[in-house]
Amino acid sequence: MHLNFDTMIMPEDLQCLKVIARMGGCRGPVRVSSQTLGATLGISPQTASRRLQSLEKQKLVDRALTPEGQDIMVTPEGEAVLRREYEEYVRIFGEDHHRYTLRGRVITGLGEGRYYMGLEPYRVQFSRSLGFVPYPGTLNIRLDPRSIPVRKRLEALEWISIEGFVADGRTFGPVRCLPCRMGETPCGIIVPGRTHYPEDIVEIVAPVGLRDTYGIRDGDGVEVEVEK
Ligand code: CDP
Repeated sequence: MHLNFDTMIMPEDLQCLKVIARMGGCRGPVRVSSQTLGATLGISPQTASRRLQSLEKQKLVDRALTPEGQDIMVTPEGEAVLRREYEEYVRIFGEDHHRYTLRGRVITGLGEGRYYMGLEPYRVQFSRSLGFVPYPGTLNIRLDPRSIPVRKRLEALEWISIEGFVADGRTFGPVRCLPCRMGETPCGIIVPGRTHYPEDIVEIVAPVGLRDTYGIRDGDGVEVEVEK
């Protein structure tokens, strides 16, 4: 089939073609009047009639005039135009729609990660929910400004709750975590429960020392992928 990709369909013609296809015009002829088509598109019957003529001229529909009205069918070329449109939407809402990438630079934190991740109740819960025993520590990343809105979007996803506990007469708060990946390593973003947390920092737990595994030093750029 020959397709001329150089001729772009006008948006208003595409809209009209879509309505005909929604009526079943890709599977067989549909009985359409300029009145009903116009009403559906919110345009006058005269304008609807011109759109049909335009679609026919571009060979995107076939028309057969009958005394009762007109039977319209979408041609293979018309269907190809719709399919291209569909593929654009697949790109927008397809699998990649659920992939979030955070970019930032590794920094040194307060040195508390090692202590917290060494606590048995946290270790047990992280192992259970993330599927790995966490390396004792958290990798701190300062996000690039462009990743801050991405980080905010992650709030809408389903996080895993890690419960707080009391140990040695001290209270350790709840934490939430979100599975993610750095390279091929399964990781988790963790956020302490109640405290105020800076919006441009993420803390990562992983089954391995990420600095050693990837040869990362302070200031190096890294990517964290979240797939939901
Ligand atoms: O000092 P900081 O708060 O950054 O460190 P920590 O949480 O006590 O972790 C100890 C060290 O291990 C730090 O240099 C972390 O960046 C590093 N780390 C790592 O390489 N891979 C992990 N999965 C966790 C921490």
